[in-house]
Amino acid sequence: MVWDTKVGGKEYLTEAAELIRRGEVVAFPTETVYGLGANALDEKAVEKIYIAKNRPKDNPFIVHVTDLDNAEKAAFVTDEAARLFAKFSPGPLTVVLKKKECVPYIVTAGLETVGIRIPSHPLCREFLALCDRPVAAPSANVSKRVSPTEAEYVYEDMKGRIPLILDGGRCDVGIESTVISLAGEVPTILRPGIITAEELAEVLGRVKTHTGEVKVAQAPGMKYRHYAPTVPCMLYRNPVDAMNYYDEEVKNGKHPVIFARSANKTLFGDRNTVDMGCDGKEIAHNIFHLLRYYEKKNDAILIEALSETGEEGAVMNRIEKSCDGKYLS
Ligand code: TXA
Ligand code: MG
Repeated sequence: MVWDTKVGGKEYLTEAAELIRRGEVVAFPTETVYGLGANALDEKAVEKIYIAKNRPKDNPFIVHVTDLDNAEKAAFVTDEAARLFAKFSPGPLTVVLKKKECVPYIVTAGLETVGIRIPSHPLCREFLALCDRPVAAPSANVSKRVSPTEAEYVYEDMKGRIPLILDGGRCDVGIESTVISLAGEVPTILRPGIITAEELAEVLGRVKTHTGEVKVAQAPGMKYRHYAPTVPCMLYRNPVDAMNYYDEEVKNGKHPVIFARSANKTLFGDRNTVDMGCDGKEIAHNIFHLLRYYEKKNDAILIEALSETGEEGAVMNRIEKSCDGKYLS
């Protein structure tokens, strides 16, 4: 099926919810990135997300609900989970819990657990309330591509593939939610995000970060190249390496671009340099937009390596994947 994809804001809310109730797929804004949603309780509808996204079937989807009561319809919400939701929701946190029977295995990639998220974006909340059922949604990009933070970027990937993109403006957070699993013995962070391990440990006492071997659905981002721009991307630790590489490229008639923290931008003289932002939060807000924007203008993107922990660590997790782990020198 080829759709004449519509894009619009609030005026499309009713239609968006109707499409979901009818078993179709709709892209919608959240505070993190745009999601590609379908009725989480309808297997056939969820199947359509896989098709639109071209996604491997061993990646589970996050289930989006408006509040704790609705979370309880889809998952067994433990005391620990309730404390996390009380502190961080609505907001950019996904909690993996034992699923209830109503959630089909197509949503969880065959797992007995389900990731639950209560988003804070106002238009998203109105949309979920009108849908009146849990909405399963991955990020609204074609599999492996950079997650979209604006309706325009969703359109690039989803044009013709879905009937409607609900436009809620530029996403505030800019990278996907922190995913924490409470399904095992020790709370474990499966994907870092803007809510950090330290903040979660304050509520839970202890959390583990996922460093072990990669298993099905543990952290799919590690299994496949992810967040991949259409041009080569490389990380640099030393600005001199970036400048040498850049100058060589220019000599060969190429048009590279350097992404640097605000504080380091001036190091690069008159080379084509982009300010990523001054701290982890700001860089998170900007990074996916910058990747989508500059891949269209340049042949190569050189990205300053960030710290491995806290908010910067969450961004690092994404850009290392964009660069496929490649560093200059
Ligand atoms: O911010 C976000 O989380 C966005 C917005 C749309 O809500 N969604 C998103 O979905 O990033 P997606 O599909 O791109 O990433 C979902 C992540 C994956 O890393 C997946 O493995 C993990 O959540 N996940 C979901 N359910 C899980 C489960 N039952 N067990 C382990 N990991 C799970
Ligand atoms: Mg994704």
